[in-house]
Amino acid sequence: MEKKIALLGMGTVGSGVLNILKENKDLLLNSTDELLTITHILVSDLNKTRTVDLSGIQVTDNIEDIKNAEIDLVVEVMGGLQDTKTHLLYFLEQGIPVVSANKDMLAEYIDELEHTALNNKTTILYEGAVAGGIPIIHSLTHSLNANRISKVMGILNGTTNFMLTQMADKGLEYEDVLKIAQDMGYAEADPSADVLGLDAARKTLLLARLAFKKRFKMSDLDVIGIDKVDKIDIVHGKKANMTLKLLGVVEDKSSSYHLSVAPIFVDNTHQLSNVKNEKNAVFVEGNAIGQAMFYGPGAGSYETASAVVSDMINTFNLSSKKTILPEEFGEVDQSKEQSDYY
Ligand code: NAP
Ligand code: HSE
Repeated sequence: MEKKIALLGMGTVGSGVLNILKENKDLLLNSTDELLTITHILVSDLNKTRTVDLSGIQVTDNIEDIKNAEIDLVVEVMGGLQDTKTHLLYFLEQGIPVVSANKDMLAEYIDELEHTALNNKTTILYEGAVAGGIPIIHSLTHSLNANRISKVMGILNGTTNFMLTQMADKGLEYEDVLKIAQDMGYAEADPSADVLGLDAARKTLLLARLAFKKRFKMSDLDVIGIDKVDKIDIVHGKKANMTLKLLGVVEDKSSSYHLSVAPIFVDNTHQLSNVKNEKNAVFVEGNAIGQAMFYGPGAGSYETASAVVSDMINTFNLSSKKTILPEEFGEVDQSKEQSDYY
């Protein structure tokens, strides 16, 4: 069956979503019974030159066009706070599922959005909102749900990790590396959210909420960014075999919860010290699994869209309870099996 999808936003992540749907079409049809078709796209500037193929898609700058259309799923990758939340609430109230990668908005409104989704027998999924392509949301909600989670600790912001890595490895100055991070497309439109630790804090809040099943507010977090970090701090750390990392930490202290984001010196024997540049990593401690670490790209077009498209597939598979049947697994291509791997 065809599912009609409205894509709110066609920037870095939105283009990645369109490209994956096109390039992996056959694979996606194998993963879900639904043909995922983008029928509408919302942008702010209709005159902008686009590099993606938009034939057959209604591109609009008016959200009412999408509210008036027949849509099976809304994918929000445009950013924004209050207005965006209002739009998403509208769709959820109509029973239309939502996928979002908008951590700024989700950190403020996830409780209200999930409550509305539940009341209207639909879903809101947001794997792309935390640590880009790393499947940490699904891991906390599904794969690790046999655990009592005691701690989650991670490098959750690609921009600042890139900056700290370049300052340490190449001896570059703060202002110079910030400019490079912006040019590479890692930083938010306003990079102060990255360097002040707010972006990492929003992701940390979303992880704490899932790890401990508690409603947290941004004011529950102690947040220190990297804006006061000087190259000399990093040099001193290096001499002591330590690496400076901006870490989001949430911990169940039995009588209270600790939630923070701060630059912390990590011993060079710790795996987190080796997470370089825009890469992210999340460490989870649970009473059954012990320790587990998730590593991968924390930002980027295809990388984040990997998580967003996965949410799109899962939205429909959740409702249809689709599983891949044994007969749907193809035969192994023998010539592939005898590759020169060894
Ligand atoms: P982006 O490149 O700036 O793209 C934003 C898109 O949304 C653009 O197409 C823009 O339209 C459209 N848009 C923005 N405000 C709009 C409005 N009020 N009405 C209609 N259209 C609007 O942003 P992005 O990097 O793709 O990020 C999108 C979301 O994903 C953000 O919430 C971000 O925090 C999150 N995210 C991003 C990454 C990443 O690596 N970039 C990773 C994880 C999560 P125009 O094209 O006309 O300007
Ligand atoms: N600005 C963010 C980062 C983008 O640098 O991690 C991905 O959330």
